[in-house]
Amino acid sequence: MDKFYVTTPIYYVNDKPHIGHAYTTILADVLARFHRSLGDDTFFLTGTDEHGQKVEKAANARGVSPIDHCNETVVRFQELWEKLGITNDFFIRTTQDNHVGVVQNVLQALYDKGEIYKAEYSGWYCVGDERFFTEKDLVDGKCPECGREVTEIMESNYFFRMGKYREWLIDYIQTHPDFIQPAFRANETLGFLKKELGDLCISRPKSRLAWGIELPFDTDYVCYVWFDALLNYVSAVGYLRRDEDFRRWWPASCQLIGKDILTTHTVYWTTMLKAMDIPLPKTIFAHGWWLTGDKKMSKSLGNVVNPMDMIARCGVDAFRYYLLAEMSPGNDANFTEDAFVSRYNSDLANDLGNLLSRVNKLTLRATGGTIPSPGTFEDADREFEAEVSAAAAAMPVCRAEVKLDQGIAAVMQAVRAGNRYIEKTAPWALIKSGNTERLNTVLFLAADALRRIAVLLQPVMPTKMAELAAAIGYPNGDIGTIDRISAPSDIAGRKMTETAGLFPRIQVEATPVAPVSAKKEPKKKPEPSSCDPIAIDDFAKVVLKAARVLAAEAVPDSKKLLKLQIDLGDEKRQIVSGIAETYRPDDIVGKTIVVVANLKPAVIRGVESNGMLLAAGHGDKIRLATLDGDIRPGERIG
Ligand code: MSP
Repeated sequence: MDKFYVTTPIYYVNDKPHIGHAYTTILADVLARFHRSLGDDTFFLTGTDEHGQKVEKAANARGVSPIDHCNETVVRFQELWEKLGITNDFFIRTTQDNHVGVVQNVLQALYDKGEIYKAEYSGWYCVGDERFFTEKDLVDGKCPECGREVTEIMESNYFFRMGKYREWLIDYIQTHPDFIQPAFRANETLGFLKKELGDLCISRPKSRLAWGIELPFDTDYVCYVWFDALLNYVSAVGYLRRDEDFRRWWPASCQLIGKDILTTHTVYWTTMLKAMDIPLPKTIFAHGWWLTGDKKMSKSLGNVVNPMDMIARCGVDAFRYYLLAEMSPGNDANFTEDAFVSRYNSDLANDLGNLLSRVNKLTLRATGGTIPSPGTFEDADREFEAEVSAAAAAMPVCRAEVKLDQGIAAVMQAVRAGNRYIEKTAPWALIKSGNTERLNTVLFLAADALRRIAVLLQPVMPTKMAELAAAIGYPNGDIGTIDRISAPSDIAGRKMTETAGLFPRIQVEATPVAPVSAKKEPKKKPEPSSCDPIAIDDFAKVVLKAARVLAAEAVPDSKKLLKLQIDLGDEKRQIVSGIAETYRPDDIVGKTIVVVANLKPAVIRGVESNGMLLAAGHGDKIRLATLDGDIRPGERIG
């Protein structure tokens, strides 16, 4: 049995939870559910960050004590997580006595070891970010992180000797490729470490800020909120209190964060652990941002998406599905209601919902609901079975690499293959002609595919997949665990029950054609044609780059697909392309081609494709777009 310990950042208790917070927490939840389903010993931690200036200010403004303010606001997170079906094993609040005790013990131990010292300090302070900056960090005299005003401060403070770990940290990152993921975030950290690394100011004089954990060796000071907050990851699992628990869970398997807090985790946190003689987490994974309308969500722009509103509109599972399917975690993603509705209607209502409803109706009609045992398999059956097995094989790989969007895409491919299989084998005609043996095979395979799809999507949509499971004969939705997905099926003989639509279509609101007209027409997205001009800004969204083909090979069991390894200048990538009827692998190696470099990754026939090459033509008459003359791989085209 393996161990899996996953964490989210602890959120500022003051904030109103939005889809950014929801995303990290749902991602952690899905990973935890997957691991539990595999039988792994799993611990999932989330919580709230409750000290610091912002909380103190907000409490003062309301005329309540900081702890009362925290007690009132923490509920917003706790209620949301409950609503979203989050299965955290513990919810840490940094105001809990146990956590406070651990922080004080760590501070004292580091002070005793000479890792913390007192010095005179002058610097620029940003209240919003609760961080100090040096004069040269500032951008136009303002905070380099958020652009707000900074205040000059001169005072005595305590410092953690972070700077001395610079070389060690560089070496650690370079020799542990799994440590910071995705890999380009490791490069970002290494870039940060190129500059000199200063020591970290870890105290605030009480005269300026009282709401924090008191330093055990100087009661005139409280602890810097980040130093306190980061320690939650170890205090929650028994550090310095319950040795056995601590050994059971630490080091964490996966610490999920947003890209906004990369440095605090990959530099502050890791050097703190080093000073404390504690091993580092296996992986720190930084995902991108959710944007709305291509902009960062912010209260002042009024574009913050409230998860509660989305849940009320479309249900918890569809919301969880959308966030995970839409974001490829390395990159930013854009939230729009249109994109949400269109993905819901196509993936869930049309594809998955439709597959269940067809199989359900056909089985009820053919056998009164009992799922039959199969007869002999034909080519169409084997091909369909292979598509479902490809999804089952892709999901664990994608899960391990925190590429759940790609795992989900692979499952959706199997769902679509299911609908094609039903069309091809036409069970309604088999019912009519009385070809029972063939009919039994088709109904069995389709129902069994639904079983495997439900197991794969269960961590993402626990409630809906339990409903699906119940509809195909697993009472209470008890469909089994992922480790049994490829075991011989136990579905034959089970009884389907009539099911209402699993995912009712969301009706797109009709919009008036013209303000004066009462007539309503549905919104249509016109197909672009060469006569429909687009703005240069729209074109600029597509990043076209020159790439050199380093290696190529056929994708097994496919006539059309080649798998290419390409050089994009500062990175190597794999893409899959449907050019095999024209180009043999040897024809294409060494060519410089044109690639769409910012396309969302996809899994094609179980193979990951990270970009798309440009070509014209079909079948055996395809011609690649190439560049006229020598050009460096990675050069932008446009
Ligand atoms: N309290 C600190 C973290 C301390 S961890 C020891 C903090 N809190 S926060 O409330 O600002 O939450 C930050 C986290 O919320 C991000 O790292 C990210 O996981 C999530 N998100 C907040 N806004 C986000 C988006 N717009 N998009 C995606 N996730 C973001 O920083």
